Amino acid sequence: MNFTVAIDGPAAAGKGTISKAVAAHFGFAHLDTGLLYRAVGAKVLAGAAPIDAAQALDPVDLENDELRTPAVAQAASEVAVIPQVRDALIAFQRSFAARAGGAVLDGRDIGTVICPKADVKLFVTASPERRAERRFQELVVKGMDVVLADVVADVKERDARDRNRATAPLVPADDAILLDTSDLTADAAVAAAIAIIAERLA
Ligand code: CDP
Repeated sequence: MNFTVAIDGPAAAGKGTISKAVAAHFGFAHLDTGLLYRAVGAKVLAGAAPIDAAQALDPVDLENDELRTPAVAQAASEVAVIPQVRDALIAFQRSFAARAGGAVLDGRDIGTVICPKADVKLFVTASPERRAERRFQELVVKGMDVVLADVVADVKERDARDRNRATAPLVPADDAILLDTSDLTADAAVAAAIAIIAERLA
């Protein structure tokens, strides 16, 4: 069975939590496509040229705890503006989406560019304040030494860059279902996503 779920949205809206839970619930494979851009960003911070880094990206590069830092997130959103970087990552994402048994991909352009024919498209949002606060808590739990004001600034800056870039900007697909998680607990957001997908599968 081929069944693709596209989950897009701005930084720290809850895409990761929802995608992981949905994948576990339905037995689908999950790809966090932000990690691809983060891995390229990390290589650029280490001195590589962005396009070379994207073209040479290896799945092993995704297994790196350092990819979650705000510095790498910023570098990711900077390389994500470059069309050739995005092009280099398309084939891997599309072949992941086409795997048998179902797949969930989360990112910014899954429903618009990577999988325009996805079976379900969700666009997950939340207020900027909620998103920054949740990301701050996540980073603190991971043991990172972060300041809330810096996390707010990171989320705002990346949102603006992701929304305003010329190639594959962050925008809901015309046929995406909007899920605002501002006033939902993680469990409630997951339950809402599962209900939408279950209905499509039925
Ligand atoms: O976890 P968070 O939502 O903060 O970010 P992420 O999904 O890990 O993505 C990091 C950055 O990669 C984003 O700010 C985007 O610039 C870029 N990205 C993208 O352009 N396209 C995607 N499909 C996924 C991420």
